[in-house]
Amino acid sequence: MESTSSHVRVIVGVMLCSVLAPLQDVTGQWFRPPKFWSCPQNCSCFDGSGIQHWPLPGSTPARKDPTRSLWMEKNPRVECIGSGLTRIPVEEIMDDVEMLFMSSNNIPKISLADLKKFKNLKVLNLKRNKIRSIIADADTTLTNVTTLTLRFNEIAFLSKEHFQSFPNLKYLSIYHNHITTLPGDMFRFNPYLNRLYLGPNPIKSFCDDFLEELNLKRLTLRNMSLTAVPPSISRMSNLVFVDLSDNQISEVRNNSFSPCKSLIRVILENNFITSIEENAFNGATSLRTIQLSENRLTSLPGGILSNVSVERLDVELWENEFFCDCSLKDFKIWVDQRNAIDPTTDVRFRCSQPMRMRNKYSDDVTSDDFTCQRKNVIYKERKTIYTGEEMAIAVMLTFLCTLLCGIVAWRCTFKRKYGHLLRYASQRDDYGDMEELQ
Ligand SMILES: *[C@@H]1O[C@H](CO)[C@@H](O)[C@H](O)[C@H]1NC(C)=O
Ligand SMILES: *[C@@H]1O[C@H](CO)[C@@H](O)[C@H](O)[C@H]1NC(C)=O
Ligand SMILES: *[C@@H]1O[C@H](CO)[C@@H](O)[C@H](O)[C@H]1NC(C)=O
Ligand SMILES: *[C@@H]1O[C@H](CO)[C@@H](O)[C@H](O)[C@H]1NC(C)=O
Ligand SMILES: *[C@@H]1O[C@H](CO)[C@@H](O)[C@H](O)[C@H]1NC(C)=O
Repeated sequence: MESTSSHVRVIVGVMLCSVLAPLQDVTGQWFRPPKFWSCPQNCSCFDGSGIQHWPLPGSTPARKDPTRSLWMEKNPRVECIGSGLTRIPVEEIMDDVEMLFMSSNNIPKISLADLKKFKNLKVLNLKRNKIRSIIADADTTLTNVTTLTLRFNEIAFLSKEHFQSFPNLKYLSIYHNHITTLPGDMFRFNPYLNRLYLGPNPIKSFCDDFLEELNLKRLTLRNMSLTAVPPSISRMSNLVFVDLSDNQISEVRNNSFSPCKSLIRVILENNFITSIEENAFNGATSLRTIQLSENRLTSLPGGILSNVSVERLDVELWENEFFCDCSLKDFKIWVDQRNAIDPTTDVRFRCSQPMRMRNKYSDDVTSDDFTCQRKNVIYKERKTIYTGEEMAIAVMLTFLCTLLCGIVAWRCTFKRKYGHLLRYASQRDDYGDMEELQ
């Protein structure tokens, strides 16, 4: 008896639910019919549950951005991607919008006062427009905006007055603009900033004052005329990733990354680095990837990697000028020992000098090959065997043979074995439009 009545209750419940269900959306909120909405021309509009209501069925769908990552998606949202806009169509956008995605248009100017009504706005993406100026407005405060994307525009100047409207900003990308100076107090009103993508930008003389108060997780300062690793970095205890490539850094000093216990990857490619001090990476005990290709390194101290991650170490050292004599022996010994303990270690380099080691790869030679010639002994031996003329000819022949062998060996093995590394010389990858960088 009892079981029959509970069955009836369940059936009635299921029937009621299926009658009422269409009136609710997936989050359980009461459904709002799309007729209360508006949506700008050539755009797509999504409600609070991410369900698309515009463009209406039958019209051409707006373009999608393939590089967009879903973690940033907030709803309700409006997407006008490659829609030919010359301004943000604020009048036609619902006030409660949380994400505005306006990339690849022809917008030349933004007035922050126009955005005032979007109190819930969290994500504002204006990448790949023609923005030259942003007009600040002291009365506009968008407390919910955490993500601002302005990369690939023509902005020449930004200051604290602009960022004052975004006091809770966490993510900012403004690389590939025309910015030449960075005011020291630029981020005075943005204490929560933790992902900052600034370079490339044509900065004339770099000063890291603007980083002073920030504790970032990710930072890119690529191609911004840096001449040293910014001292502020050695205060960023939460830093995970830093890209300092394409600058004019000539030296990496002791403890440049010292409190950065979370730091996993440092990119220092294409600088003018000639020397790295032995304790340069000390304290960065999680550091696994160090990219040092395309520099002017001739040697490295033996203990330079002894205080970084104990596993999966990957150090790129291609396109340098390593002098593979006794001065590099300690480093070679360290790498060999490390390889024996952890075969996933990938630390290789190519010798440039002395002649007998030219173009040899570190994993094709042993640490015993890293010797220094004792000049006076060799001179004495040669003096007893050769005349000056014979010696000159011998030297020239040796040089020519080595050169020839080098060229042949290079052509045979280099392309086969290391061909993929040629990208460092010519076609370096531009992370350009990645929404988030690893
Ligand atoms: C919408 O797109 C069409 C075709 O690309 C274009 O001619 C028109 O100007 C666009 N409308 C707006 C408001 O930008
Ligand atoms: C931020 O958004 C929340 C809802 O997510 C809203 O309650 C709050 O009022 C917004 N902040 C401001 C300053 O409007
Ligand atoms: C760095 O930026 C300048 C323009 O400011 C550009 O000419 C140069 O090619 C860039 N360098 C690299 C390596 O991308
Ligand atoms: C950097 O550290 C190494 C190793 O402790 C030390 O020999 C060297 O003198 C230091 N350099 C400077 C400039 O203090
Ligand atoms: C790195 O150096 C610090 C002190 O400078 C030391 O406490 C730590 O154990 C070292 N870590 C490694 C992996 O050598």
